[in-house]
Amino acid sequence: MAEARLEGVRACIFDAYGTLFDVNAAARHCAGRLGDSWQPLAETWRAKQLKYTWLRALTGQHVDFWQVTQDALDYAMASLSIDDAGLRAELAELYLRLDAYPEVPDMLADLKAAGLKTAILSNGSPMMLEAAVANAGIGDLLDAVLTVESVGVFKPHPSVYELAGKAFGLPAGEMSFQSSNGWDAYAAKAFGFQVVWVNRFGQAEERIPQTPDLQISDLTGLADIVVSG
Ligand code: LAC
Repeated sequence: MAEARLEGVRACIFDAYGTLFDVNAAARHCAGRLGDSWQPLAETWRAKQLKYTWLRALTGQHVDFWQVTQDALDYAMASLSIDDAGLRAELAELYLRLDAYPEVPDMLADLKAAGLKTAILSNGSPMMLEAAVANAGIGDLLDAVLTVESVGVFKPHPSVYELAGKAFGLPAGEMSFQSSNGWDAYAAKAFGFQVVWVNRFGQAEERIPQTPDLQISDLTGLADIVVSG
């Protein structure tokens, strides 16, 4: 059976959190102290972080993703009645050096070897993305690290997705966008990218426009999908 592929891709654009970097890693590292609460904490932290980005975008009250991330952490800890300033500081600090998913460095190296451009396009602030990229040791494998701070509004505002075309001088249709966040993948497809939904968490299909081109469960083998044969 022929594998599903994308055609005419010249640059691969990646969401950061949940796609390249393991958003649950900070809480998991503190599992010894959090006990069974580490998973609910991670889930509430992430869910609230994303909700705050959408609320701030809708109401025009932008602050950077580091502030949003800390606000969401404070909410998550309060919702679980965890009152521990030392643990809060440690969790925030760990968020700046999240683990990359294991397949990420080899996957980026394969794309570079095939002559494709690569970039991150993320809600993350410049400081956060710089720290995450350095921690993962993938800086040499990325042509650009693009942040919403250039436009002052969070995804899925179209002005965010426009940043990739501006960086590479390419139309959206000649770029593939990879995200593990369903809402981000659908919005990127609606914007005009070719889209691979990295559905790491086995989420149900979204009921919003427009359906991504392909789904994969992790980034292993992305080069086989996006590099023209
Ligand atoms: C990002 C969030 C959405 O990196 O994961 O933009």
